[in-house]
Amino acid sequence: MMRNGFRSCALVGLLLAGLAAPAHAQDEQERAKLLALVNEVIQDDARHARAIELGRDRTLLCAQCHGEDGNSRTPEVPNVAGQNPTYLLEQVDKFADGRRKNFVMQSLTRDFSMEDKVNIAVYYASMPVKPLSADPILAREGARIYGAVCQMCHGDDGRGEIGYARLAGQQPQYVVDTLKRFRTNARRSVSEEDMKRHDVRMEQVTQNLSDRDIEALAAYIALLK
Ligand code: HEC
Ligand code: HEC
Repeated sequence: MMRNGFRSCALVGLLLAGLAAPAHAQDEQERAKLLALVNEVIQDDARHARAIELGRDRTLLCAQCHGEDGNSRTPEVPNVAGQNPTYLLEQVDKFADGRRKNFVMQSLTRDFSMEDKVNIAVYYASMPVKPLSADPILAREGARIYGAVCQMCHGDDGRGEIGYARLAGQQPQYVVDTLKRFRTNARRSVSEEDMKRHDVRMEQVTQNLSDRDIEALAAYIALLK
């Protein structure tokens, strides 16, 4: 069931990626390669089971912050359970080469082999996301903004696609911190070196959001299943 879900998602994702994100050809090539590799593993029962096993072993250190099953133990740490494997792989690469900055994550990801990365991504992707709670009134406000601005990339249920993060059930404090970081990049002239994280698309969509909008979006996202 899980595997069929991912396959159809991947197809829609390819179509959407073409429409919504005319990214660099090189990125697209890299992404297609990673996706092909992840799909190869996921579609072969024996390799899939093995990847999950190896991924679990490789994430012993990560459990301290992200939880054994990828459901985070602290509000500032993102859930990685249920996350799209290609998005996870991309973020690991961004930490490893310094495009995304976080001291612990940069040190931990630097020495991963391609195989480690695929196993870790497959392992976390196969773990279920635990439900969170949030203020329902705030969430209703967030739903309106989400539908108008975010849905076109992150999907109507927040499940994301190949290059787009799954948002459903993400830790609200992490979402608030992340959106504010993108907004800061967009509003002030932050040098690329000082940006903890940089993405032109997310900078454009956050630049006109108020703090209240951001809190509302985080509440809505936390409640998405
Ligand atoms: C000391 C705590 C800590 C440990 C240990 C840790 N992480 Fe993280 N991780 C974080 C924090 C904090 C972030 C968010 C950084 C930011 O704000 O950009 C993060 C982000 C991530 C992300 C990006 C998620 C997203 O939604 O964009 C991935 C993937 C990830 N970690 C994987 C791992 C893996 C794999 C390991 C083990 C090898 C690991 N982490 C170990 C704290 C930790
Ligand atoms: C044009 C496409 C697009 C739109 C519209 C968009 N996003 Fe994103 N979003 C992205 C991409 C691409 C990334 C990954 C950025 C990166 O690699 O750092 C992302 C990342 C994120 C993340 C970080 C996820 C994580 O796990 O770290 C959050 C949170 C997020 N978006 C929320 C939103 C919200 C809320 C909206 C609406 C206000 C929105 N996005 C609209 C493309 C989009």
